[in-house]
Amino acid sequence: MSDHQVEPHVFAIVGATGDLTRRKLLPALYHLRDQGILETRNTLIVGAALPEMGEEGFRLWAFEGLQQAGSRNETELRVWCEECLHYQTLHEGGPQDYEALATYIRRLERAHNMPENRVFYLALPPDTVPIAMERLDQAGLLKSHGWVRVVFEKPFGHDFHSARHLNTTLHRYIEESQIYRIDHYLGKETVQNLLAFRFANPIFESLWKRDTIENIQITVAEDLGVEHRGDYYQQAGALRDMVQNHLTQLMTVIAMEVPVSFDAVAIQNEKQKVLLSIAPITPQDIVFGQYTSWQVAGQTIRGYREEHGVPKDSTTETYVALKAEIHNWRWKGVPFYLRTGKRFPRKLTQIAVTFREAPTQVFRSLDPGSIPPNKLLITLQPSEGFSLCFSVKNPGRPFQMSDHALQFDYEQAFGQLPEAYETLLRDVMIGDQTLFVSADFTETAWCLYDPLLTGEKSVHFYTAGSWGPSEADALLERYGHRWALGKGIEKLEGPRWTSAVEDQAAPIPEEVTSELGGSIAGGYRSVASRVVVIEARCLNWCCLDGR
Ligand code: BG6
Repeated sequence: MSDHQVEPHVFAIVGATGDLTRRKLLPALYHLRDQGILETRNTLIVGAALPEMGEEGFRLWAFEGLQQAGSRNETELRVWCEECLHYQTLHEGGPQDYEALATYIRRLERAHNMPENRVFYLALPPDTVPIAMERLDQAGLLKSHGWVRVVFEKPFGHDFHSARHLNTTLHRYIEESQIYRIDHYLGKETVQNLLAFRFANPIFESLWKRDTIENIQITVAEDLGVEHRGDYYQQAGALRDMVQNHLTQLMTVIAMEVPVSFDAVAIQNEKQKVLLSIAPITPQDIVFGQYTSWQVAGQTIRGYREEHGVPKDSTTETYVALKAEIHNWRWKGVPFYLRTGKRFPRKLTQIAVTFREAPTQVFRSLDPGSIPPNKLLITLQPSEGFSLCFSVKNPGRPFQMSDHALQFDYEQAFGQLPEAYETLLRDVMIGDQTLFVSADFTETAWCLYDPLLTGEKSVHFYTAGSWGPSEADALLERYGHRWALGKGIEKLEGPRWTSAVEDQAAPIPEEVTSELGGSIAGGYRSVASRVVVIEARCLNWCCLDGR
């Protein structure tokens, strides 16, 4: 990773009037400007899209979006939109429209005395990416006297063949060194910190192997359902949407060897080596699930089959749990359990490393209760931090042990962490590919999961608000393990569940925050919707079991 300065450039967003631009890209760009990374004289942001909204229309739309995203200083915001944002309509998206975009960009570059350095961020539906690349190329925008970088959003194909085809198409126009495939999980500060945690702290690195680790679990739990994306999700399912990319990235970061240097090629090579060492995942070692409806707090939380755009007999999975094995010197025999799903009791991304038990139970005769193995819990969101769990003797007699943890909390130490998109956009601008997905990674990851995607899946149902189907517990039990957090059949009480109520934006009233003190919102069991929200937020904030 490098700390290069951002060189003057045009940052063009193709498909600029969509949700991604307003919710993620513009707020991230604006924050980069707050940090002094983007300045008016070094970055001109050009929106390009089909709607004829005109430059003023685009600026107003962006201004309102930024305000909604929480940017407070209205005057500064307006000035930034005026000075930095530009817009060119693409009408039908035909060759002449891209010619017009090229003319517009060249004029801007001349007017601002800029070198021909260009980023094209393709915020487009996947099926329109190849044609957009062809048009950009025909308009001469991909060749310049400066540098050109192109950013792509997932999905990168829907299986091995489509991913390879997409990569071949992209390589027809640009080199791999110009391609920035985004997996926003890699932009999360805690994921990057995993590398620092492992490779800057020899005490952990020396334990990071089959001799000391019993199993590793990666849980990416979401409390939301598929929301308005039923149509997309129906085609994707959790294995394509989350496992092939985000969870597999996390697994390779956790499992990779020490890279020879801290740069993109070295790190991507090590991750690729891990991927290539993963043994084929057998159908017996994967569980698919789908959420069903749940009555809570007088409301019905829809099941997946009742979501908009989803057929009543859909067998698309909203949940996956699987066991993977990495057949290399370091990890042979250590199961990696990956689990993700929609409509879990709460949002949580956590890696649980369970260490092997002590070889002899010296204290068994004194404290017959079983002594749990040491665990390292790495929480990526929310409440980012690490906990190292160990057993201590309780004071006095009788001799008894209990489980405690050493904790580190990022927010306490550093304040609020940057958004993933801020990190990733900055890296595109400085030309650092470390946190981006390589062509090889996408193809190899699809190779691993392709066999599990074909044929009829057997999908097990789980109630929305639970930790998934009990078959996922049975999967671990077969290997003598259990989930470090939340069993499939265990369900939180209704009012505790964040997604029970839509309105989560309301501030927590003062009387409630003071009531909370050190303990967890115990008194708030009312089903009145506002109280439900308050309790749910507090629970998240307090960070529950396992921490
Ligand atoms: C996206 C998936 O890539 O990641 C979504 O398409 C999912 O279905 C999202 O909700 C989760 O991201 P995060 O950062 O909220 O954990």
